[in-house]
Amino acid sequence: MSTQPIGIFDSGVGGTSIWKEINLLLPNENTIYLADSKNAPYGLKSKSEIIDLSIKNTEYLLKKNCKIIVVACNTATTNAIKVLRENYQIPFIGIEPAIKPASLNTQTKAIGILATKGTLSSELFHKTTNLYSSGITIIEQVGNGLVELIERGEIQSEAMKSLLKTYLQPMIEANIDYLVLGCTHYPYLMPLLLEILPKHVKIIDSGEAVARQTKFILETKQLLNQIPISTNYEFYSNTDTSVMKTLLNGDYTAEQLDF
Ligand code: SIN
Repeated sequence: MSTQPIGIFDSGVGGTSIWKEINLLLPNENTIYLADSKNAPYGLKSKSEIIDLSIKNTEYLLKKNCKIIVVACNTATTNAIKVLRENYQIPFIGIEPAIKPASLNTQTKAIGILATKGTLSSELFHKTTNLYSSGITIIEQVGNGLVELIERGEIQSEAMKSLLKTYLQPMIEANIDYLVLGCTHYPYLMPLLLEILPKHVKIIDSGEAVARQTKFILETKQLLNQIPISTNYEFYSNTDTSVMKTLLNGDYTAEQLDF
């Protein structure tokens, strides 16, 4: 029964794709989004650096009195969520690439996964792919450079188009019928992905599933807000907040801070 906010963090603005889903599914909850854009991308950092940054973000959200934290970053989830859960009392929700539904539903027996180096090389990712890869070909592709372009608001630029064409070509040649987006920044590339990929390829990301899991954990722990409120959606970034304004419409407050 708590009006305390839900905290959400990411290496930058990408996790706002998750934030939107949470705000849609839980319209009576205050939410705070923290974009650590100064340190993006996490995908090229070492595990210990990702853990340190995730702790810094968590501490910030705890100061804001958050009741639950959504790690809206695949790289931070795969590398740091275990440490966060061991060190803090509040619940943490993580993001994993949706390999399971893609593997279970593929007809061509080939699926593609686009993610950061940090995610694709993590132990958690290997465990999940080992569980679901029997009898299917998984084409993994590191999305080098994509996060940097999205952080600059370049979601439809020629540079983006050319990178995506290069990354997707081996998947198209392998006749994938599912593309798993393993980074919360990538849903913003949907228009270009749809343009480049053959029509039969389904693209899946984890946004809705994460929102549902957040709701489920809040219900289970009796942390859902039951008091009617006029909700606050607060966005904090440690760089310029203008990119976020190009990605999101709606009633958000945005502030640049040093954290
Ligand atoms: C990154 O910071 O490299 C991407 C974030 C993600 O993995 O979702």
